Amino acid sequence: MEVTLALLKPHVVRNTYAMQQLKSLIGSNFNILAAKELRITKELSECFYADHKDKFFYHRLTTFMQSGPCYAIILQSELCIQKWRRLMGPTKVFNAVYNEPECIRALYGLSDTRNACHGSDSAISARREIAMLFPEFDIGQDRIGA
Ligand code: CMP
Repeated sequence: MEVTLALLKPHVVRNTYAMQQLKSLIGSNFNILAAKELRITKELSECFYADHKDKFFYHRLTTFMQSGPCYAIILQSELCIQKWRRLMGPTKVFNAVYNEPECIRALYGLSDTRNACHGSDSAISARREIAMLFPEFDIGQDRIGA
């Protein structure tokens, strides 16, 4: 089975109702291998989003991710990466609201930066992101599922 990293962003973690709904949705769709609330430091947010270093929104995004606790979860299921990304919906909240009004980003996203959640885009990214946010977690080769 495949694993992925799901990350709920600070404005969602502050929203008790959203957290309750999302934990229930996640629990009914995936095995949860680990979950924790964490503060993302400047160094960690810059490392986590290093691929976006040259984008105009990089500073806004990394600053926002430091603005309050995030909630990180290691999910496991068949086709986990694709399944979580489908539940999240489009990155841009405008597209999410107009094209997939039931998706997580349509329901809880506020802007392209504050788009509610993140999900790894590949098995390689999942391994890298899990190692960054859960250094204590032993992600065995057998669980990559690439
Ligand atoms: P996330 O899944 O966390 O991964 C990269 C993030 O970059 C993405 O969600 C958005 O929050 C952010 N992002 C992508 N495109 C834009 C954009 N055009 N403007 C602002 N933020 C963006």
